[in-house]
Amino acid sequence: MSPLPAPAVQWLAAGLLVVLAWLLVGAKRGQRLPPGPRSHFWTGAKVKDGTPPWLRYARLHQEHGEIITLSSGPLQPKMFVLGTAAAAHEILDRHSSSSAGRPRLVTLQEVVSQNMRTLSMDVGPRWSRYRKAMAETLAEGSARHYQPVQEKEARITVDALARQPSSFAQQFQRMSASGIMTVTYDHPLSRMDDVWIVRLFDSIKNVAPFFIARTYLDRLPVLVHLPMFLNPVKRRALEIHAQELALFTDMYATVRTRRDEGKAADSFASRLQERQARLGLSDAEAAYLSGALYFAGSDTTSAALSAFVLAMVSNPKAQRRAQAELDAVVGSERMPTFDDLPQLPILRATLFESMRWRPISPLGFPHRLTEDVPYKNYVLPKGSTVLANIWSIHHDPREYSDPDVFNPDRFLENGAFRGTWFSPQRGHAGFGHGKRICPGLHVAERSLLIGAASLLWAFTMAGEVDTMAFANKLPTAPLPFDA
Ligand code: HEM
Repeated sequence: MSPLPAPAVQWLAAGLLVVLAWLLVGAKRGQRLPPGPRSHFWTGAKVKDGTPPWLRYARLHQEHGEIITLSSGPLQPKMFVLGTAAAAHEILDRHSSSSAGRPRLVTLQEVVSQNMRTLSMDVGPRWSRYRKAMAETLAEGSARHYQPVQEKEARITVDALARQPSSFAQQFQRMSASGIMTVTYDHPLSRMDDVWIVRLFDSIKNVAPFFIARTYLDRLPVLVHLPMFLNPVKRRALEIHAQELALFTDMYATVRTRRDEGKAADSFASRLQERQARLGLSDAEAAYLSGALYFAGSDTTSAALSAFVLAMVSNPKAQRRAQAELDAVVGSERMPTFDDLPQLPILRATLFESMRWRPISPLGFPHRLTEDVPYKNYVLPKGSTVLANIWSIHHDPREYSDPDVFNPDRFLENGAFRGTWFSPQRGHAGFGHGKRICPGLHVAERSLLIGAASLLWAFTMAGEVDTMAFANKLPTAPLPFDA
C-alpha cells in the first residue's frame, strides 16, 4: 500500500479537526440546554394521556426545573417551556428583540393565511406595520373610544340573563362577538344568525383545525411546490384562504362605503382606513388585519368571562365582597359604568385574580428565538421555539402564596390594586409577553371589567362546579356548568 500524498493527509487532518470541533461545540451547547424528559430519538417527546399540556408541563417543571427542553425529533427545532415568571420575563420580555419570532407554520400561515394573519406571522416588515396599526388603534387611549359600546353590550347581556340566567355561556359569546364586531367594523350583533357572523363561523370552522394539525406541508415544506393535482392539502388550504379573504374584504369594503357616504362611526377599520396609505398596507393586508381580530379576540373574551363566573360560583365570599363594594360605590338605582372603575379596586383585584387562577390562554402562543438567548448557565439556541407556561407561572408559590387559593387580597394594598413585580398593572401574565404581547389587551380588559361589574351588580352567582373542568384546547374555556 502506498502512503497518502502529504496534501491529502493535511486535508484529512483538517477535516477531522473541523468534525471534532463541531462535535465539541455541539456537546457544549447540548450541555448548556435545560433538562427535559427522555424522548424517542426520532419522534421526540410524544405523550398523549388526555391531560391538558399546561398541566403535563407543570408536572415536568416539578421534576426537571423551571425550564424544560422538549424534542420533536432530529430535524425539528428544540422547544423550551418556561415555568417561572423570572424565566419568561428574562427570555421573552428583556430579550424581546431576540424572542419575538413565530415558529414556521407552513399550512396555517403560508398557505391558508398567505402570510397575513398577525397571530402566527413571523417578525418582519409586515408584522411591524401590523403592530404599528394596532398600537395606534387599540392602545389604551384609543381603547377608551370603545367604552360606550362595551357598556351597551354589558347592559344587553344583563337583560338577556335576567330572562334566561342559565344561558350565560351563549350570552357571553354574543356579547364578545358583538363587542369585537362593533369595535372592528361598527357592526353590533343582536343575533348570532347575523349574515357576517354565519360566514365568520364557517371560516373559523375551516381555519381552526390548522392551528393544531401539522400536515405533510409542515413536516416537509418543500412539498408546497408539488403540482396542485398532487397536493390536496394545498388545494384545500387555498380554497379556505379565498373564502376568508373574500369575507374580510367584504367587511372592510362596507366600512369604506360608509366612510365615503360620510356615515362611518368610529371603528378599528375606519381608523385603519385613515392610516392605511401612511402605514403602507395593501387592501388585502388591511382587510386581513381587521378580520383576524375576531379570531384572536372573541372566544378569548367570552371564555375569560365564563371563567370569572366559575370563580365567583366557587368563591361566594369573594363574590359578596366585590358586591359590597359595588353597592357602596354604584348603589342599586343604576348599572356600573366606566366612570366607576377607579373606585372599584376590589372588583379589579377579583377579576384579575380569576385571570391568574384560571388563565384561558395557559400556554400563550409559541415564540421563536431569532438569536441565541442566554439564561443563567444555559444558552437557548437561535431557531428554538419557546412557550411560556402561564399556568405554572400563575401557580408558582414563590410569586403567589397559596396559589391554588382564590384570593383577590393578594392584589390589594392600602385599598388600592397592586400587581406583581413582572406585571405591576394586572398581576398576571395572561396576555403573553414581550413584543408579541396581546395588542387587544386594553379592549379585552375593559370588556371584562365592565362585564364582571355588571354581572356582580345584577346577580348572585351560585351552583356546583368542578373548578378544574376546562377544555383541553387553546384557548381553553370552562366546560359547561350550571350557575
Ligand atoms: C381575555 C381576552 C384575551 C386574552 C386572554 C388574550 C391573550 C393573548 C395571548 C396570550 C396572545 C399571545 C401573546 C404572545 O405571543 O406572547 C395574544 C395575541 C393576540 N391577541 Fe389577544 N387576548 C385576548 C383578547 C384579545 C382581543 C379582544 C383582541 C383584539 C381586539 C386580541 C388580539 C390579539 C392579536 C391580534 C394577537 C396576535 C399578536 C401578535 O402575534 O403579534 N386579543 N392574545
